[in-house]
Amino acid sequence: MLYIHPVLQAVGFLVFAYALVLGLARFRAKHLHHKARFLWKRHVWAGGIAYGIWMFGFLFGAWAASSRWGSVFVTGLHGKTGLAQFLVVLAAAALGLYMHVNKAARTRLPLIHALLGAAALVFFAIQAVTGYEVLITFVMRY
Ligand code: HEM
Ligand code: HEM
Repeated sequence: MLYIHPVLQAVGFLVFAYALVLGLARFRAKHLHHKARFLWKRHVWAGGIAYGIWMFGFLFGAWAASSRWGSVFVTGLHGKTGLAQFLVVLAAAALGLYMHVNKAARTRLPLIHALLGAAALVFFAIQAVTGYEVLITFVMRY
């Protein structure tokens, strides 16, 4: 059971990377004036799946930890960074959905949305390192 969460979050990362590549085409076209085509619908789909997996994975990890160890935030930094990441991802997804539903010519909101995505990426790197430690010290040993 405790192995499902790490696998889920890693799969989420792969989809996130794809959404990022698609989003960077929009970034390059608008801000750097490169010739690039932004596949809007595909970006929304991939981004939605990535953020959906990460948010569900967060809840699943917390549930798995509490059902196994009887409490949440037992993993210290990993659990707390996970909460921060959950909130950042929630904000990025809400902003993305808002821009998708209310289409308009925008510069600042997409940039904020992209910065939140960059923060989520930094958090994921921390989660991968601390999560690996939790995996080898707690899950594989007991
Ligand atoms: C719920 C998921 C997501 C939705 C609904 C969404 C939606 C959008 C939309 C509608 C735009 C274009 C806005 C416009 O041109 O007015 C956009 C741009 C962008 N998105 Fe997302 N997105 C999502 C997830 C992601 C993810 C996972 C990343 C990865 C970091 C990401 C990175 C970007 C980037 C880099 C841009 C271009 C920003 C710019 O040009 O300043 N998005 N997104
Ligand atoms: C999006 C990234 C991630 C988020 C938001 C996240 C979040 C969480 C949360 C909230 C918990 C419960 C911790 C507690 O209550 O103390 C947890 C547990 C755990 N996480 Fe993560 N995590 C992420 C990525 C990873 C990765 C990449 C790994 C492995 C390399 C990992 C391994 C673990 C392990 C082994 C546990 C113990 C319980 C379980 O396996 O379900 N996590 N995580």
